[in-house]
Amino acid sequence: MRTAVVTGVSSGIGRAVAEQLVAEGWHVFGSVRKPGGDEGLSAGLGGRFTPLVFDVRDAEAVAAAAGQVSQALDGRTLTALVNNAGLANFGPLALQPIADWQAQIDVNLVGTLRVVQAFLPLLGADPARSGQPGRIVNVSSVSGSMTLPFVSGYAASKHGLEALSDAMRSELAIYGIKTIVIQPGPVQTPIWRKVHRPEDGLYAGSDYGALFEAFKSAFIAAGRNAHVPESFAKLIYKALTARNPKSRYARVRGRFLNWTLPSLLPARLLDRLLIEKFGLSDQRYVA
Ligand SMILES: NC(=O)c1ccc[n+]([C@@H]2O[C@H](COP(=O)([O-])OP(=O)(O)OC[C@H]3O[C@@H](n4cnc5c(N)ncnc54)[C@H](OP(=O)(O)O)[C@@H]3O)[C@@H](O)[C@H]2O)c1
Repeated sequence: MRTAVVTGVSSGIGRAVAEQLVAEGWHVFGSVRKPGGDEGLSAGLGGRFTPLVFDVRDAEAVAAAAGQVSQALDGRTLTALVNNAGLANFGPLALQPIADWQAQIDVNLVGTLRVVQAFLPLLGADPARSGQPGRIVNVSSVSGSMTLPFVSGYAASKHGLEALSDAMRSELAIYGIKTIVIQPGPVQTPIWRKVHRPEDGLYAGSDYGALFEAFKSAFIAAGRNAHVPESFAKLIYKALTARNPKSRYARVRGRFLNWTLPSLLPARLLDRLLIEKFGLSDQRYVA
């Protein structure tokens, strides 16, 4: 039976991936942060779903989960690891508390490496295991390639994840382990609700207060018309099962305007467009 570890299955893309893989006959080990945090997944998916409890920042808990999966695999390789757990804390970089900014690096980037290191032996780095080498999918973002204002920490974490994934593709080749990156544009998941946090009021009255509020509203509106998580579950399934997967799959609504064109424009021109769109032009000398 094919087996997968999926991080962050309590909601959104991770949950949809767990459901898709179980429907395809896989056994899924899905991570949540607290016991019972799988919000009914265990009941819904039955015996082919096993919850794991860990925060990707907690090395000991991640190692214990790898031990649990190792026991269940009984000497076979793990077919897939989907690094999906992530969070977004937006804010103006001039004022955003360093801890909020850094949390995104700790979870989205360092957390991914921590999980990869713990599960590598199961994916085939341990020669004593039988079976084909496993495959790794890293869930990045369009923010892994382009950076909007107020998203600096999230984009830095995802740009870092892109670099980590590039290195994984070459370094893990010695084990036959393939790494594939998924770059979603906006997806309708609870991550959008989490952007509305009480402490965001901390920017009110600053130079960025009104601009950041306008940015959040535009971002959240884009999220409402976004892809559904199930469409990314299908894409991730394709990345896990295609004979020759691409190294990267990007899926963005309005692909030409929101993805192709910005990647072709000179940086200064793109800056000008973003400054205008988000009302960030220099106000100091306006009479
Ligand atoms: N939604 C989008 O528009 C979008 C676009 C591009 C990329 N992505 C990426 O897609 C991935 C999934 O996000 P989503 O949109 O599905 O959001 P989501 O519904 O909020 O799911 C995020 C998952 O990650 C878990 N998580 C957060 N911090 C964690 C930690 N420290 N340790 C372990 N698990 C943790 C969450 O658990 P809790 O429930 O315990 O918080 C949740 O299960 C993320 O990597 C995100 O960056 C999303």
